[in-house]
Amino acid sequence: MEMIENLKKEMEHKLKEVKSLEALNILKAEYLGKKGSISELTKNMKDLSIEEKKTFGKSVNELKSAITLQIDELRENLEREALEEKMQREKIDVTLPGTDFKIGTLHPLERIRTEIEEIFISMGYDVVEGPEVETDLYNFEKLNLPKNHPARDAQDSFYIEDEKMLLRTHTSPVQARTMDGNKEKGALRIICPGKTYRRDDDDATHSHQFSQIEGLVIDENLSLADLKGTLEIVARRLFGEDKSLRFRPSFFPFTEPSFEVDVSCFKCGGKGCPICKGTGWIEILGSGVVHPNVLRNCGYDPEKYTGFAFGIGQERVAMLKYGITDIRSFYTNDMRFLEDMDRMEGGE
Ligand code: DAH
Repeated sequence: MEMIENLKKEMEHKLKEVKSLEALNILKAEYLGKKGSISELTKNMKDLSIEEKKTFGKSVNELKSAITLQIDELRENLEREALEEKMQREKIDVTLPGTDFKIGTLHPLERIRTEIEEIFISMGYDVVEGPEVETDLYNFEKLNLPKNHPARDAQDSFYIEDEKMLLRTHTSPVQARTMDGNKEKGALRIICPGKTYRRDDDDATHSHQFSQIEGLVIDENLSLADLKGTLEIVARRLFGEDKSLRFRPSFFPFTEPSFEVDVSCFKCGGKGCPICKGTGWIEILGSGVVHPNVLRNCGYDPEKYTGFAFGIGQERVAMLKYGITDIRSFYTNDMRFLEDMDRMEGGE
């Protein structure tokens, strides 16, 4: 009985020292485990009388329950403490101001491209892409610009390989690729947006890399009226219903007749101002009726099919629309410029 009493005291003393759940588990095994102190106690029972066994057994059981109870109580306390400590550690102050993170916005060129694409898609055009590294064949030859043609100024092009491969100088080669690739040699209605490259010295109005949106329509019985009508719709949707277009005769090897197309000045409405250099008109694109040689070079019968084509300068349209004065701003990624553009278009 004395042993029981001592064991109880010893355990109570040890329990006071326990500060963690791990230590508690060790202590529990030490006393209540199969080889623990209490099991050891019962080994002594065999030498006792029946009567003694009864009292001894009862006391051992009482000790066992007492120990179990104390261990459970302590476990509960330790668990609660651990939880409280965890909650303290992981406490979130929901009243703190949120962290603002920057949301990306569309680049002004991307905005213009999407806008122009949507106008053409609504008129049934497909959007087609072509390679930026182009062959001389598609960039020039098929477009009625044979070698030594004066309009094919070698100074202007970034050649890559033996004058056979170059960075495309315009998006017009995609016209030739699409016509070539069309097995049926039937009607086409496409636009081709993309990057273009020329060996220009960069300044406020020139960039060695810029973007164009090419357009090509091939069908039977197309006339110049279709070209004019189409471009008028596009210009009005892009710049406003009050705008008009002016077609100036021009020259491109791949079209005949060819035109440069001006839109009435959005600033002065045609009276003349510094933006339109006093003329009342601003040039936005080149266009024309597809030259029979181009149709022939791409497998089309010029007796059966006619086509019209145009090439829109994407930066030019964006500059006019947003009043941007330096083409380089599109490519230098100055956040202030980009954020200004976004605000202008009603972004955040
Ligand atoms: N490719 C011409 C340029 O880069 C633009 C152009 C003019 C495209 C007339 C056309 C066109 O499709 O018909 O200056």
